[in-house]
Amino acid sequence: MRIGLLTSGGDAPGMNACIRAVVRGGLYYGMEIFGIRQGYEGLINGDFVQMGTASVADIIHRGGTILQTARSAAFMTDEGIKRGYEQLQKHKIDALVVIGGDGTLTGGERLHSLTGMRVFGLPGTIDNDLAYTDFTIGFDTSVNTVLSAIGNIRDTSSSHGRTTIVEVMGRQCGDIALHAGLAGGAETILIPEKSYDLDDIVKKLQAGRDRGKRHSIIIKAEGVDISSEKLAETLTERMEGAEVKVVILGYIQRGGSPTARDRILASRTGVRCVELIKEGVSNAAVGIKGDTVVDYPLAVALAMEKDSHLEYQRICDILL
Ligand code: F6P
Repeated sequence: MRIGLLTSGGDAPGMNACIRAVVRGGLYYGMEIFGIRQGYEGLINGDFVQMGTASVADIIHRGGTILQTARSAAFMTDEGIKRGYEQLQKHKIDALVVIGGDGTLTGGERLHSLTGMRVFGLPGTIDNDLAYTDFTIGFDTSVNTVLSAIGNIRDTSSSHGRTTIVEVMGRQCGDIALHAGLAGGAETILIPEKSYDLDDIVKKLQAGRDRGKRHSIIIKAEGVDISSEKLAETLTERMEGAEVKVVILGYIQRGGSPTARDRILASRTGVRCVELIKEGVSNAAVGIKGDTVVDYPLAVALAMEKDSHLEYQRICDILL
């Protein structure tokens, strides 16, 4: 049994721990593992390399991905998928494991449905925007990175008596903002899943100032339909004497050593994935619900709708 393995899309802390789990899990069950460099681009270009136990030594704690990654426009076409499939046949690959987010798993599903290739998806993205799993690999690390940044920003915001808007990643998903905002005691959290009212934000900030509060932190997810700069401008206009700053955290949220939670999630789902291949399953997305590792056919997993962590939103509404 020969397995192909790639990481694709935005990298996420814990991808390396997941690569390690698939490689060592596969070897444990007597499989051969071929890493494919630079995601679906490398697949199309035939950039394959055989992996052994030693090739994944000393990586469990490293951010990024040793297999490297890419966003492949070519693999979004039937022609690109066919070229990728030809490479898989040439290298006699029986099953392909893809680690990545929504785009990566969608590409994997299309490969499976167009060619019949056995494809398995593991959720590697900081965004936490895959509905079939409670958590994605990289999300917890990213939240903790944002939390640490909030702590630093709070110090200086408080010293200067400023309001600071901290913009975080997540595409159309507000989970990084919600989790880091709740854990970091932010005054306001803006997420794409919930409409906001500028009057309410101003009222809340003003009430804090009237109580003598020297600073405020607003966590804004990047998918919210107002730019952070525009929001800062509006708040400055509407609150007399207020100084509003913007911090866009950007790519620091995607790097760094993965947390224990992410390493454990990566290890558990990676090994389960190999076991599904061994059991003869044709395709699956592997994730976690509660403390149970789960799997669904790729098409089923991708059609699920996300619940947007409603309980977190409720607690935020009570505490903020
Ligand atoms: O999907 C992960 C992510 O970091 C998003 O949160 C962000 O919007 C996007 O990738 C950035 O993509 P790129 O690396 O192509 O700039």
